[in-house]
Amino acid sequence: MKISDSVLESGERTVFALRELYADYGYEFYRMSKFEEYDFYAKNKDFLVSDNVLTFTDTNGKLMALKPDVTLSIIKSSEDAPKGVKKVYYSENVYRPSAGDSFKEIMQTGLECFGEIGAEEITEVLTLAVKSLRTISDDCVLDISDLGVTATLLDKLGVPDSDRGAIAEAIESKHADRIRGLLSQSAPAEEAEAAIKVLTLAESAEGAIVALEEASGVFGEIPALRELISILRALSSLEEGKYVRVDFSVVGDGNYYNGIVFKGFLRGVPSPVLSGGRYDNLMRKLRKRASAIGFAVYTDLLDLLEKERPLLTDDYLNVALPKGRLGEKIYKMFAEAGFPCPSLLEESRKLVFENEEARVRYFWVKPSDVTIYVERGVADVGVAGKDILAEYEPAVYELLDLKKGACRMAVAGPRDFRDDKRRPLRVATKFSNVTRAYYRQKGRDIDIIHLNGSIEIAPILGLSDVIVDIVETGTTLRENNLEVLESVFPISARLIANKSSAKFKKDALDGLVKSLAKIAEQIQ
Ligand code: PRP
Repeated sequence: MKISDSVLESGERTVFALRELYADYGYEFYRMSKFEEYDFYAKNKDFLVSDNVLTFTDTNGKLMALKPDVTLSIIKSSEDAPKGVKKVYYSENVYRPSAGDSFKEIMQTGLECFGEIGAEEITEVLTLAVKSLRTISDDCVLDISDLGVTATLLDKLGVPDSDRGAIAEAIESKHADRIRGLLSQSAPAEEAEAAIKVLTLAESAEGAIVALEEASGVFGEIPALRELISILRALSSLEEGKYVRVDFSVVGDGNYYNGIVFKGFLRGVPSPVLSGGRYDNLMRKLRKRASAIGFAVYTDLLDLLEKERPLLTDDYLNVALPKGRLGEKIYKMFAEAGFPCPSLLEESRKLVFENEEARVRYFWVKPSDVTIYVERGVADVGVAGKDILAEYEPAVYELLDLKKGACRMAVAGPRDFRDDKRRPLRVATKFSNVTRAYYRQKGRDIDIIHLNGSIEIAPILGLSDVIVDIVETGTTLRENNLEVLESVFPISARLIANKSSAKFKKDALDGLVKSLAKIAEQIQ
């Protein structure tokens, strides 16, 4: 029986097309129940996106959980050491925490390939990832990176463990200056440059091969690099290779993945619609003697493709500017960088301005909301303070330090303050996440009092012992008889970009970053 297209929603059509594609490549359909014993997830927490799973008690009193992940269940019930290669695909819902306190149901269609995995199997899975994206739209990009290559390059450069977290963060957010700063400290110039070139790549398969070969020349034989180059060569001889980019900012979860990792993007959808990689670590943890690679397509996100967002689907660069004095200074930098829009500075209550000639559109938004507009792709780029980025950790690229709005995050308190370690320290702040992370790393118990403004008043009235807040000139502290007790980190305005826009508006964005970098360099 053929199902008429008119009764299928586009998400359903995509799911059927994907299932057909995977079946054509010899993948077997895998069905599973919607829940597992909770204990299974408790033992494998490291491999979950979040510790939080939805639980319930079954009729025998056993604690069960609605599945937060499909791969773990497939691997659990697979053979210990399959002969050759085993290939399965699935179409299931998983349940994960969403923003706020609730959970959301996420529709995933994907595949897993395990057993004796070599370059040929990896190439096939990557080809299928591109084909999956093209089932939905040809306006797509598959970003590939390799955690094995990144780790080996950092080893070769002698980067200490203590710096690895900061480097991983800088690579993930594409903060080239910071990567350069961190790597050039620990390694000779030629080696550092070769590694920086690889770790900041955003290139077609062919372009990337040149940079990776150069790195091979500098570092000598690196098996992970060889394998990546041979996979890229194989992909570039295929039609699908045209949609591949090498981009080391795809870092994946290092507990789960260990080699090649990848993410798929579609124009018009602000976050990746496909995500996958090689997960031998997970196999080992579940005591399986095999390698594995797989990916999932998040079909729910495809709804966004159909939503009408008229201002956003043209070729304008959409910029979210923080309203206020800093925003005006930042706009002047953008205008100098080739994106002028004089009407923006005219006195008015308008919030959206555009310049047809320069193909740019500006929005004035509340400074703390800039990250939301950019993360959700309503703006392609924006400017936000490091304080906001550290507090909310939005999934955006942080491309550049614009060197404006310099201040610092600090712990402040009364001049005669003495910490009484016998009880938790009471800290008032707008920045609860930053505060929690800072004191966790110091091993100090705290009681956070979250306030929305006028933080300095808290210690004066005895509501808190100290505050964690922004200090610019120090006037507010002085006038309230407080002083800086500890500096937490320096703050300045950063250029951020939506991850999907960075692929599809690459030329405009590259031009902007280059010019802004030159302008920012002159600010000291
Ligand atoms: C910020 C910050 C401090 C003040 C620091 O407040 O929270 O109160 O600026 O600047 P200074 O060191 O130059 O005195 P903001 O103006 O954003 O107001 P709010 O936090 O009270 O809302």
